[in-house]
Amino acid sequence: MKRIYNFSAGPATLPIETLQEAQAEFLDYQGSGMSIMEMSHRGKHYDAVHQEALANFRELLSVPDTHEIIFMQGGATSQFSFVPMNFLGQGETADYINSGAWAKKAIAEAKFFGKVNVAADFGKEIPTRQAYADELQLTPGAAYLHCTSNETISGAQIKIFPESDAPLVSDMSSDILSRELDVSKFGLIYAGAQKNLGPSGVTLVIVRKDLAAKVADTVPMMFRYQTHIENQSLYNTPPTFGIYILCLVTRWLKKQGGVAAMEAINNRKSAKLYAAIDGSDFYRGTALPEFRSTMNVTWRLPREELEAQFIQEAKALEMDGLKGHRSVGGIRASIYNAFPEEGVDALVAFMKDFEAKNG
Ligand SMILES: Cc1ncc(COP(=O)(O)O)c(C=O)c1O
Repeated sequence: MKRIYNFSAGPATLPIETLQEAQAEFLDYQGSGMSIMEMSHRGKHYDAVHQEALANFRELLSVPDTHEIIFMQGGATSQFSFVPMNFLGQGETADYINSGAWAKKAIAEAKFFGKVNVAADFGKEIPTRQAYADELQLTPGAAYLHCTSNETISGAQIKIFPESDAPLVSDMSSDILSRELDVSKFGLIYAGAQKNLGPSGVTLVIVRKDLAAKVADTVPMMFRYQTHIENQSLYNTPPTFGIYILCLVTRWLKKQGGVAAMEAINNRKSAKLYAAIDGSDFYRGTALPEFRSTMNVTWRLPREELEAQFIQEAKALEMDGLKGHRSVGGIRASIYNAFPEEGVDALVAFMKDFEAKNG
């Protein structure tokens, strides 16, 4: 068996222990004679998995009783629509921070449902960044304030979440469970699973119960957070296999010491890469240092040909997925929770070697 260092931004590398656990019980789940993905979502085996996954999230993120955890489908992209569909009432305005490509998509979708105020606009700024609190032009009485916790493409991450009288909504697709979080400060958090949580196909949503309850009668049942709350994410057939892997990943995370331990590891891993970038005139980081992501480290080389060569040579050394997003180019190392620290060390060593030969 060969496992390479997979720096992909998502779907991304998963803990090897989790994959092995799933493999071991793939054909015969706990003596049932069938795979977990072949059995009813209303049976006892699946129900135990579903409940454990929910409980693990509640424990790992210390989710208070005021908030409900739900599993949905349609990825974070669908949440760009679900949020305004549920929260943006007639005549209301929603505030959005444009911090880059993903925020921009969220803004475009919200405009289908109502009025949007761009409270700060850094979507095109280079080096890329997030907003400082005093830069926000907030709407009095806004329905909510939306921010993108971590811009996966540019590598700009919010370090201090904005304060607003309006409920705070955040897209945490690429940094959920990577750092400690005060969930009570958020009206809603959403995250596609395929970076830090498991396979694509499941979307994690944490929502304040009182906000979800206010949904308009015109919203179809399947698109209401309230429907999924009332049915414990079993209103229809959920993505059972994905939720099963989520259960195993959260179990793994608890064994690593939980989110606080993960945050320390993530800080250490990303610091190694930023030190390699800052210690050279050859590499140039693309995010403003104050907003550098611990999940997606982005940088440039002096010329595009050198970037192509860098990616190619890294691949030959079994380090894949380093090509920056097609919209921005450059290099991006995605080092989510499950990415091993040895892989970061291998990349740093390769960066030094590559610079010595080509710098
Ligand atoms: C921050 C962020 N938001 C939203 C998305 C879109 O997620 P999905 O493909 O699950 O719809 C992504 C995907 O990479 C992302 O990184």
